[in-house]
Amino acid sequence: MDDFSFLFGGAFGNSSISELEKKYGAACAEAAEQLSAANAGKSGFGWLALPDSADDEIKSAGEWLKGFDAVVHIGIGGSALGSLMLNQALWGIIQGNLSPEYYVADNPDPRKLLEIYDKVKNKKTAIVCVSKSGQTAETMTQFLWLCSKFCKDGNYKDSVLVITDKEKGLLKAFADETGCRMLVIPDSVGGRYSVLSPVGLAGAYAVGIDTDKLLSGAKDMREKLLAEHSMKNPARLYAVLHRYHEENGKNMAVLMPYSSRMVHFAEWFAQLWGESLGKNGMGMTPVRVSGAIDQHSQLQLYTEGPDDKVITVVCLKNSSEKLFIPKPQSRALEGLDFFENIELGGMLSLEAKSTAASLMKSGRPVIWLELDRLDEFVLGGLIFFFEYVTALTGLLMGINPFDQPGVEQGKRYTYALLGRKGYENEAEEVKTWFAKAGETAVKL
Ligand code: PA5
Repeated sequence: MDDFSFLFGGAFGNSSISELEKKYGAACAEAAEQLSAANAGKSGFGWLALPDSADDEIKSAGEWLKGFDAVVHIGIGGSALGSLMLNQALWGIIQGNLSPEYYVADNPDPRKLLEIYDKVKNKKTAIVCVSKSGQTAETMTQFLWLCSKFCKDGNYKDSVLVITDKEKGLLKAFADETGCRMLVIPDSVGGRYSVLSPVGLAGAYAVGIDTDKLLSGAKDMREKLLAEHSMKNPARLYAVLHRYHEENGKNMAVLMPYSSRMVHFAEWFAQLWGESLGKNGMGMTPVRVSGAIDQHSQLQLYTEGPDDKVITVVCLKNSSEKLFIPKPQSRALEGLDFFENIELGGMLSLEAKSTAASLMKSGRPVIWLELDRLDEFVLGGLIFFFEYVTALTGLLMGINPFDQPGVEQGKRYTYALLGRKGYENEAEEVKTWFAKAGETAVKL
């Protein structure tokens, strides 16, 4: 049984494997060389070692979280998307169904926070605050608000867990002062590569996800990717194909999983790919698309609109639940007889195939990725695959896939607008940009 099966033949366009090898082979090998386990200590590369991390502390925090009725996980970007992705892929499509109930407070939209608060206010609730920098506006404001509700008496020890850098930022100091629980995000691991660190694992363990299996799936994938040095390595081919198409005018990388359990996976991928690769005027825009829903929304554009995308269709071969369609009971519906005994998840896989075939018919580059099933082992492998392929693509492009200066700029402008000391120049800059924008104002 193959857990992962890649079909690349629909993605070569006017090229071929030998041409790609000639053009990118040496550069790709050089990039892959940097992604060796030996480099895992270097800044940004720490995710390579996460599959080996001893997670006793994580499990003990997870065990503690199991004692609550509800968990509110506060964080944004890389400090939230991994948890959303794991919980949805392995447990419930509807978040409130988990046990403990698990809510992610990412966007600081007051309506959303109030809705979460309403669900948990009368329950034994843990607050998990995740921020590597320990100062992100969206996270820290919601943390302050929730603490004012749940820790009125100044007792943070009994209900707060912070997950942050071991020394930088205010959360570490907060944990020292209050004695609340703390888990450390390794120095060398950036936010969007951190799902297999305490950032994703503590909450995952709490809701009953087998974190050992998740890590062993990631480890297995790592061993396979590090051992294969030719273009038979699916990560190398995936990276090289995207590079080739980007250089030939395709500027979007679409991920289209056919499973409602992978909607957040596509969100997670979009952050990983976009934030890692959008640099120096390069980078294909990641597009998250959900099959079969977007088949009825985007497929027309993808088949007959501009030829500017590389599309990865992800098909889940075996759904964990089986639903068989019964024979129509009404005479009027007899024309639907051919649905009888069709298994719903199986139909979704066939729809993935129809979409991929339609795209190929239109000459659009398609990569087909089939997953045998979606359990911890396979998901761990898939996470590692996409982290690896993203880093490899970035190194192949000659950029640093582990920094995010554009994101940091936005954070500084936010601090400036909120009146934070030390950000006065940034406040002036925002004023200047808006004065320029205001030169052409239209009001209705
Ligand atoms: O990948 C990244 O570095 C970012 O998306 C961060 O995860 C995000 O900005 C949140 O940052 P922090 O964890 O410091 O609050």
